[in-house]
Amino acid sequence: MIDVSNVKIGVIGVGGWGKNHLRVLNELGCLTAFCDVNADRVKMYEKKYGVKGYCSVDEMLQKESLNAVTVCTPTITHSEISKKTLNAGLHTFVEKPLTLSSKDGEELLEIAEKQGVILTAGYIERFNPAISTLKDLILSGKIGEPLLLEFHRESKWLGNVRDVGIILDTAVHDIDTARWIFNLEPKVVFARTGHIISPNEDFAAIILGFDQKKTAFIASNWVTPKKVRRLVTVCTGGIATIDFITQEIQIDDAEGTIIPRKEWKEPLLLELKHFIECVEGKQTPIVSAVDALNNTKVAEAALISSRHGVPIYLEL
Ligand SMILES: NC(=O)c1ccc[n+]([C@@H]2O[C@H](COP(=O)([O-])OP(=O)(O)OC[C@H]3O[C@@H](n4cnc5c(N)ncnc54)[C@H](O)[C@@H]3O)[C@@H](O)[C@H]2O)c1
Repeated sequence: MIDVSNVKIGVIGVGGWGKNHLRVLNELGCLTAFCDVNADRVKMYEKKYGVKGYCSVDEMLQKESLNAVTVCTPTITHSEISKKTLNAGLHTFVEKPLTLSSKDGEELLEIAEKQGVILTAGYIERFNPAISTLKDLILSGKIGEPLLLEFHRESKWLGNVRDVGIILDTAVHDIDTARWIFNLEPKVVFARTGHIISPNEDFAAIILGFDQKKTAFIASNWVTPKKVRRLVTVCTGGIATIDFITQEIQIDDAEGTIIPRKEWKEPLLLELKHFIECVEGKQTPIVSAVDALNNTKVAEAALISSRHGVPIYLEL
């Protein structure tokens, strides 16, 4: 047990990713209940964690007195489930992407505001220690101004994500990181996509144009076998290269090459700890509801751009 809080959290959806929420929230002493439409999973995790599991969201909300939930179900269900949890007055952490459409996302923002509860989304890379180091480096001015970001997020499709394509499922992480590193909203989006092995687009190249010609290039694919998660940040005073998996950051500047030695930390642990502190009123979410909504808006623009072969101009 790492820390104990009085916050009571229910996890909704305990599949491939939600099972990690169970583990981490249990470790943090906040796991109170969970639910999944898959009865076998409910039985398995009830036994493993000794907390009550339900097969329906409604029943869990009725029978448990929770402060907050994390929603880890497939993207197409996020809107319907989060409407219920927000309307029940629960602080709600929704896994990325917030919703399938920005229209649905806007509705969630309105409900959260009306209910006075937190709405945030699982943009986990903001909690990756390598990204925190990069953000601090940029804020300190030590490598100058960031100009160009080049992301590679690539691995073989495992056949599990069928409701959305790679842009809403995967490239959204890099859309969020680009907005976070530049601390700007993109003004224009151009994308090309295709599909080879999955029902939706499974490879994508996205260009995000920001003010002062700052640009992010995002390459994502579910076709190639090797798992790659990399970011190269070109700044006026040097280049920072990040491996999201090893959390290594290499800084090349006029002095030479530096690879700071940092302890590897689980981003999900940092992310859920932060959510708990927000529920306790000690912090405000690093990923605001507007951030989550804008990521969906940019992803939508990328999908429209790729469909029509034209740049899409945005006002966020
Ligand atoms: N932040 C990250 O790095 C990361 C990584 C993987 C997945 N995710 C996100 O997590 C979410 C889930 O992805 P996954 O890979 O775990 O999917 P999954 O299909 O493996 O698991 C989804 C689970 O939700 C359950 N479910 C479906 N509808 C439900 C409902 N109405 N009520 C209760 N349970 C329901 C399913 O039975 C299943 O167990 C997605 O939004 C995905 O984008 C985030």
